[in-house]
Amino acid sequence: PLVSMRQLLDHAAEHGYGIPAFNVNNLEQVQAIMEAAAETDSPVIMQASAGARKYAGEPFLRHLLLAAVEAYPHLPVVMHQDHGQTPAVCMAAIRSGFTSVMMDGSLLEDGKTPSSYEYNVAVTQEVVRFAHYIGVTVEAELGCLGSLETGQAGEEDGIGAAGTLAHSMLLTDPEQAADFVRATQCDALAIAIGTSHGAYKFSRKPTGDILAIERVKEIHARLPNTHLVMHGSSSVPQELLEEIRRYGGDMKETYGVPVEEIQTAIRYGVRKINIDTDIRLAMTGAIRRFFAESPDKFDPREYLKPARAAAKAVCKSRYEAFGCAGMA
Ligand code: G3H
Ligand code: 13P
Ligand code: NA
Ligand code: ZN
Repeated sequence: PLVSMRQLLDHAAEHGYGIPAFNVNNLEQVQAIMEAAAETDSPVIMQASAGARKYAGEPFLRHLLLAAVEAYPHLPVVMHQDHGQTPAVCMAAIRSGFTSVMMDGSLLEDGKTPSSYEYNVAVTQEVVRFAHYIGVTVEAELGCLGSLETGQAGEEDGIGAAGTLAHSMLLTDPEQAADFVRATQCDALAIAIGTSHGAYKFSRKPTGDILAIERVKEIHARLPNTHLVMHGSSSVPQELLEEIRRYGGDMKETYGVPVEEIQTAIRYGVRKINIDTDIRLAMTGAIRRFFAESPDKFDPREYLKPARAAAKAVCKSRYEAFGCAGMA
């Protein structure tokens, strides 16, 4: 059934696991996530960005997600609006049937410029007021993620090591986080702890301290009842990069967030883990391989099938690693 995100995250907190929130844009991604969840008996959070809405259109997105609920009636499914830029966007998502919205007031309406704390509190309060009235969950964000906000993809290597101090002003401040949740009453809070969106997170191989885990602990200690969210959580597996390169793709050297680091973050209170890039990489590798190996084929079903299977494998492995399996 369709459920609120609060329900799923409360259960995750109670049982000490984390839930991957996968971005969706099309049929094959939705199917991959649902097949993986069904095989592992995991709860599902699917999220749609503004880019997804632009690509698929609101009716197609809505019906794809509702089709998933209908096809898998025994699995709990959350329809989540990712990075809502304004209260109006969140309102529209709720009207469209989403059971959870992110009001990302850490940025102004342009989705790029960091906002003031007061602006963030005001827009988040506004969304909480109408969302909670009808049982919809609200995720907010405090702090500054790497590349999405700064446009400096690939320049944040060293976070957690030498870069921690230089970067610390961008990380979520625990005191401010406590104040923010008191003021807004949001259900979930996305925190900046050293990750960034996209494939180019770190230019050197992570050595085991890539996340600001102390921050997670401090924030969680002050906000034991607020579910912490980690954006930019793709692991950028080297074997997926290799597959893309082997079949003609151009991927520079890059590293993501190791799964073990995410597991540590889950131990200290992170409950929702956003993943988009890993699915993109998996599908692209599979399609590149298919085109290289079968240049005579032209039925889209034939190349979308291995792409869907590759996405599903990523989802299954995250469900298992984050402790979701058997929790649906
Ligand atoms: O927040 C970033 C997600 O990966 C969504 O990306 O805006 O290209 O759909 P997108
Ligand atoms: P990745 O780019 O690391 O997959 O992060 C996705 C995300 O945070 C969506 O909100
Ligand atoms: Na932010
Ligand atoms: Zn994000």
